[in-house]
Amino acid sequence: THARIVIPRSAVVAPLNRRIFGSFVEHLGRCVYGGIHEPDHPTANEDGFRLDVVELVKELGATTIRYPGGNFVSGYRWEDGVGPRDQRPVRRDLAWHALESNQVGIDEFARWCKLTGSELMMAVNLGTRGIDSALDLLEYANHPSGTALSDQRVTNGAVEPYGIRMWCLGNEMDGPWQTGYMSADAYGQIAARTAQAMKAADRTLELVACGSSGSSMPTFGDWERIVLEHAYEHVDYISCHAYYQERGGDLDSYLASSLNMEYFIQAVVAAADHVKHKLRSDKTINLSFDEWNIWYLDEHQASGEVDDQWTYAPRQLEDVYSVADAVVLGNLLITLLKNHDRVTAASLAQLVNVIAPIRTEPGGAAWRQSTFFPFSVTARLARGEILRPTIEVDTYETSVYGRAPLVDAVATMDVETGSSAVFLVNRSRTESIDVSIDVTDLEATTIAEALTLHDDDVYAKNTFEDQNRVGLKPLDGVSVDEGTLTVTLPPVSWSAISFT
Ligand code: AHR
Repeated sequence: THARIVIPRSAVVAPLNRRIFGSFVEHLGRCVYGGIHEPDHPTANEDGFRLDVVELVKELGATTIRYPGGNFVSGYRWEDGVGPRDQRPVRRDLAWHALESNQVGIDEFARWCKLTGSELMMAVNLGTRGIDSALDLLEYANHPSGTALSDQRVTNGAVEPYGIRMWCLGNEMDGPWQTGYMSADAYGQIAARTAQAMKAADRTLELVACGSSGSSMPTFGDWERIVLEHAYEHVDYISCHAYYQERGGDLDSYLASSLNMEYFIQAVVAAADHVKHKLRSDKTINLSFDEWNIWYLDEHQASGEVDDQWTYAPRQLEDVYSVADAVVLGNLLITLLKNHDRVTAASLAQLVNVIAPIRTEPGGAAWRQSTFFPFSVTARLARGEILRPTIEVDTYETSVYGRAPLVDAVATMDVETGSSAVFLVNRSRTESIDVSIDVTDLEATTIAEALTLHDDDVYAKNTFEDQNRVGLKPLDGVSVDEGTLTVTLPPVSWSAISFT
């Protein structure tokens, strides 16, 4: 099988906004406690944050970090997490049936973001709370000083305001599992009123209204339309959430998961633009794909691990990812980049232990899951502008998506430094694919790096016992001759080639 790819300079999608490489830290399972935070760990700093995890987060290249949830935020009282730690209350977290010690709150997390060099993206609770607490949190976080709540922050050690720009107006408020879930009409109204009030405090905030919690929700499409009919002029983004998993051994369909993401994006763009034209608005609402990942949700639901245990930081949603999972994740990231004109922010959900690229054990090591690699390499090599290639390649049959192209790809080019990169997947389970890429417009002559994630065992994984079983390998046999790059992509693989 052979593929032919052309990358014309005219096919610019958008300049790269590094917020596309965001991630997500929720008070869930061992993401915060026992993940980023473990005071007894040998590498812990004075706040109790594991510095070995900080190093891996930096290597991953995660930019914006959404916090503190997720479903958790819909019952969260942010005030519980500030002030002297020995006076903070223990609460029940109804979303995940766990105890919340509140030992990490906004002040600690803001310090952690400084350590990792990431941007804090905050979610407010619109499940059990509303405008009042959202405004209080905004005042506490962003007002310089001289008001009751900003002075409280200063007293708690943060003289400088946090300057948080992106705020999520609740989380998945369409989901019947969500504490305080509501109808599109009810949510649209509360989102509009909360956004109006927050922007009265600061016009420069970037506010994200909840879209559907998945494209299979019965209200999908109508939800986006109705919410935006209420909130359009007050918000800046509508959110998308999508998780994928292999079901029933159908690897062929699983490897084509990004077709669903592509459809999802197009549908939400259509709904947002429909409202734009209906309202005759000059403004365009973009998409914050602020939860995306592989998640073996069916298995977790069947396991009953989220039950009435009421313990601190139980092991929940600790998926161990395979090579195939990493290839799908790499393809999802390619899809986000190809749609970067409208998907201008995204968060890989989540960051540590809970459906995460990074895993840890108490007192022990932190290691990279297979899915770490496509994310970190893309975040490191993507620069400048995104280019959407034209791909001529055979298709293959899938039971879920019909016929799917065997190869997908995206490219980036930085005119200033003259560096460029191409990211590719081969979805075939059995065939290597010879690819020729017209890279004339990239002015690509010298190959800087050529890496692939592939293994003869597509289900190979990194585990505590074998932390380096899966990793990047050199992509052999890549050459460029007179503007044409030739490469052979192994079956079920994700690859990156960069040029100087
Ligand atoms: O990321 C795990 C959960 O998935 C989040 O808490 C929720 O928003 C979504 O359903």
